[in-house]
Amino acid sequence: MDWISMRRRVARTRLAPAVALPVRAASVAGYDAQLLARSARWLARSREHTNYTYDLTDRNLGHLAWWVSVVTDTPVAEARAHIAEAREDGDLREHVREATLRSSRRGLADPTARLGRRLGWYAIARAVKPDRIVETGTDKGLGSVLLASALLRNGRGRLTTVDVNPDSGYLIAGRYAEVVDRVVGDSVAVLGSSAEPVDVFLHDSLHTWEYETAELAAVDPRLSRRAVVLSDNSHVTDALSAWAEKTGRQFLFFREEPADHWYPGDGIGAASWPRNDPPSR
Ligand SMILES: C[S@@+](CC[C@H](N)C(=O)[O-])C[C@H]1O[C@@H](n2cnc3c(N)ncnc32)[C@H](O)[C@@H]1O
Repeated sequence: MDWISMRRRVARTRLAPAVALPVRAASVAGYDAQLLARSARWLARSREHTNYTYDLTDRNLGHLAWWVSVVTDTPVAEARAHIAEAREDGDLREHVREATLRSSRRGLADPTARLGRRLGWYAIARAVKPDRIVETGTDKGLGSVLLASALLRNGRGRLTTVDVNPDSGYLIAGRYAEVVDRVVGDSVAVLGSSAEPVDVFLHDSLHTWEYETAELAAVDPRLSRRAVVLSDNSHVTDALSAWAEKTGRQFLFFREEPADHWYPGDGIGAASWPRNDPPSR
């Protein structure tokens, strides 16, 4: 009996799982060994203990450009160019490096600007040209300075960023601070305390279904017709997709693929009305 016939015969018996076990174990061990090596490199090189930052793989960046193109109804070449523009922004990288090294949290932060999915936030801000962006959850302010740099390139618009932590936002300085309004407080209360229209909203604060849903309810009356609503939590909850369905919007999700990092990545949920068919409001 030849080898192939023998394999087919064994595959039909109850012994098949036991016979295949060494091959299966070798596959999963190879995968886990790569993950352990990435984890060890990260433990040695990074200082981060939360809100991890990383770059995305080239293929994932290509997918991100297509995703931004569909969300904003703009040509993919434009989205690609905006992503490249942010990645090549040497001034922003230098600012993040210097502000991190100056900060009292430098022992728990990396000076290298690794932008990950925030590049999608940037490209959306470049495409939509918003008059007002609201970001809930500032943390160090990495997303805030990137969004601020999009507004500066647009030549218009302001960002409100809200965080309960008064020590948040140390990266928001220099020319980036000129277009950012920092607010310390509970985001649901802050969202409900103004009637100013919002063109881009980003939930990135307390990542529970209930809190995200409360933020969406609070910001809803303020959303302009062209508003794009983003969530940094759509890989965990369906709060944004459920809200999109309830309010007649469309929903799309982008999943991150980090390059050379142990963390499996987050994503971006986006909800908006179809560009050519927004309800009158
Ligand atoms: C994931 S971090 C934000 C990351 C940031 N957007 C970025 O680009 O890196 C979440 C932040 O939400 C803040 N936060 C938690 N609960 C909040 C609340 N109820 N209102 C406002 N901010 C809150 C935390 O203090 C924390 O700084």
